[in-house]
Amino acid sequence: MKNKIRELKNWDNKTWLSSSAYINSFNTFLLKKKKLNKNSQILDIGCGRGKIFGAISRKIKLLNKPIGIDPIVHKDVDKNIDFRNEDIFKFFKTNQIKFDLIMIKQTLHFFNKNKRSKLIKVCKNNLKKNGVLIIFSLNTINNEIPCFKVMKQKLNKGLIRDSIMIKSTCKILKNYKIDKFQFKVSITKCKYIQMLKQRYISCLVNLNKEQINKGIKEIKDIYPNKILFKDILICLKYKS
Ligand SMILES: C[S@@+](CC[C@H](N)C(=O)[O-])C[C@H]1O[C@@H](n2cnc3c(N)ncnc32)[C@H](O)[C@@H]1O
Repeated sequence: MKNKIRELKNWDNKTWLSSSAYINSFNTFLLKKKKLNKNSQILDIGCGRGKIFGAISRKIKLLNKPIGIDPIVHKDVDKNIDFRNEDIFKFFKTNQIKFDLIMIKQTLHFFNKNKRSKLIKVCKNNLKKNGVLIIFSLNTINNEIPCFKVMKQKLNKGLIRDSIMIKSTCKILKNYKIDKFQFKVSITKCKYIQMLKQRYISCLVNLNKEQINKGIKEIKDIYPNKILFKDILICLKYKS
């Protein structure tokens, strides 16, 4: 697990996940789930480069920078977030702020079962009245992420674990609403191959060079020059 965290550096490194089209579409979805104003306090757990909340901060003209927490320090973290390279439980021990919005996007699976349950409870306790905890996780059924064979096997195993995680998260949340966020990705095969080389997604981080190279060959043979697919996330919303 430690290796996974250390090596997942290229998730939002100039991929569709950091494109302005994706961020705008994602933030439009998010702001429908929770209305924010310039006084709102927001927290992103597992923020990566913080581009999503950085964009929200500029759009809403937040008076307080959103707080973003991640174990990896990137050189190009968004300037509009208050980035903390700190353990989330340590953060909550000393934190005095109650939040309007706490987001955990594609990050919950990095915590083991006990820590997950602890994390969800501590997030619920750190919301303002009418504050919202929002959790996003990869869609577990009919996932369209372009894969080569070994990658697909790893991804499917992860998605089975994720669906168990989502069920137990729903139990802890008790009152929640479920929805899906969809983004239509259009990417050149060349760019996608670059992303595979950079091991952009967790299911690639433990593959060796030979497996990646073989996989790239498969992708070259199977996919057209322009790859089209839907990136779909399950969204769980809890309101305090
Ligand atoms: C798949 S990326 C998602 C990044 C961002 N939320 C997004 O959707 O663009 C997962 C992120 O979780 C971070 N992460 C892993 N373990 C974590 C932990 N224990 N606490 C906070 N963040 C963690 C990783 O460093 C990585 O930035």
